[in-house]
Amino acid sequence: MSERWTPSTWRDMPIVQAPTYPDAAALTAVESQLATFPPLVFAGEARKLKRQLAKVAKGEAFLLQGGDCAESFAEHSADNIRDFFRVLLQMAVVLTYAAASPVVKVGRIAGQFAKPRSSPTEVVDGVELPIYRGDIINGTDATPESRIPDPRRQLEAYRQSAATLNLLRAFANGGYANLDFVHQWMLGFVKESPQSSRYREVADRIAESLDFMRACGIDPESHPELRTTDFFTSHEALLLGYEQALTRVDSTTGDWYATSGHMIWIGDRTRQLDHAHVEYFRGIKNPIGLKCGPSLKPDELMRLIEALDPDNEPGRLTLIARFGHDKVFDHLPGLVRATKTEGRNVVWSCDPMHGNTIKAASGYKTRPFDRILAEVKAFFDVHRAEGSYAGGIHIEMTGKNVTECTGGARAISDADLHSRYHTHCDPRLNAEQAIELAFLVAEQLKTERLARGPRQVAAAE
Ligand code: TRP
Ligand code: MN
Repeated sequence: MSERWTPSTWRDMPIVQAPTYPDAAALTAVESQLATFPPLVFAGEARKLKRQLAKVAKGEAFLLQGGDCAESFAEHSADNIRDFFRVLLQMAVVLTYAAASPVVKVGRIAGQFAKPRSSPTEVVDGVELPIYRGDIINGTDATPESRIPDPRRQLEAYRQSAATLNLLRAFANGGYANLDFVHQWMLGFVKESPQSSRYREVADRIAESLDFMRACGIDPESHPELRTTDFFTSHEALLLGYEQALTRVDSTTGDWYATSGHMIWIGDRTRQLDHAHVEYFRGIKNPIGLKCGPSLKPDELMRLIEALDPDNEPGRLTLIARFGHDKVFDHLPGLVRATKTEGRNVVWSCDPMHGNTIKAASGYKTRPFDRILAEVKAFFDVHRAEGSYAGGIHIEMTGKNVTECTGGARAISDADLHSRYHTHCDPRLNAEQAIELAFLVAEQLKTERLARGPRQVAAAE
């Protein structure tokens, strides 16, 4: 790997999963235009997230990362964003309460548009078509025209990301995230669900604690940390031309930052050491993620870490394990041991979604909820056995009442999948399943907290 780095050195490297644009001039014009647009996020915010992730790396906080598999132009609405945000807040509150430690909140949102695919084409009704690669690249319609990569989609993705981020910032800071509203975050359809009474119990206790604190003179009006939250954005930075156009120098430090989102990650399919994606990522200073699937060997992981985080900076690198519920014990211990032996300050997070995708008898792509839970449990078990810290979860979820993953407290069956199957890509947890998962993780975190013994209180001076 060459030493010299600029936002465009990736262009000299081999690349996989990149679309071929038929109109090169149009692509260049769009990229030049994007390069003049304001950044979506600021370097100082990315550094703040890195500091919070550094606490996760030390075992002092937990990372909650979630959102759509792929955002879509058609489903861009205030209601969808709000419903996603409130479910994420509910999960965060459940986890914060159980772990009695901070939860770092990161959405797969405001930029999650490009998808790596396992095959470049698909056959629909006997016709072979280029594969759909996400709304930032081409369309879902099963016609040859719709599947042609169109660079103008990048402008639309930028616009949607800006509007989404604007609303999220308002929700996070404008009062919606106030802990006084902990009961109101519950969605109508979740209210009748088996998870609702569990959630209400936690919410009741938080409300009671707030009443007590109010009586002591501490309330959300005088303490902004009770009425606001830090919410960060993230996506897989797959489309490097778009990322390059939004890569900017931070004037206060002189460092390069990706300004398309606070955190970006490298997918399991594009993490080749001598390829374009690793080259791009090594030069930006954001906190970054690396997806780790079953084909990743410990020595390969060590070389990737050396390339991506040579300074061993806590909070810089989050390793997102995605093996499949039955493969965690085969693969994760070796990787965890390698990072421990070399003293690497990484965050370990669990993506229990991507290794557990199956085709149901009905033909729908689905993920059985019990396998998702099993992968999370296995992840915690391995970290307990290895003496390392299970630092977070990374999930595909929506605030909508969809039927995409089977199982959960309502026992969605294969036959139910057709009723509300809306995803453009992979099956997501619905709001109830997401909250059910949060309670499972909460139990794990609480067990660990209690195992550590009573809180260490500094002696009075
Ligand atoms: N600011 C704290 C935090 O983000 C407390 C908080 C405020 C909070 N609103 C929240 C926690 C909503 C979870 C969900 O952790
Ligand atoms: Mn996905």
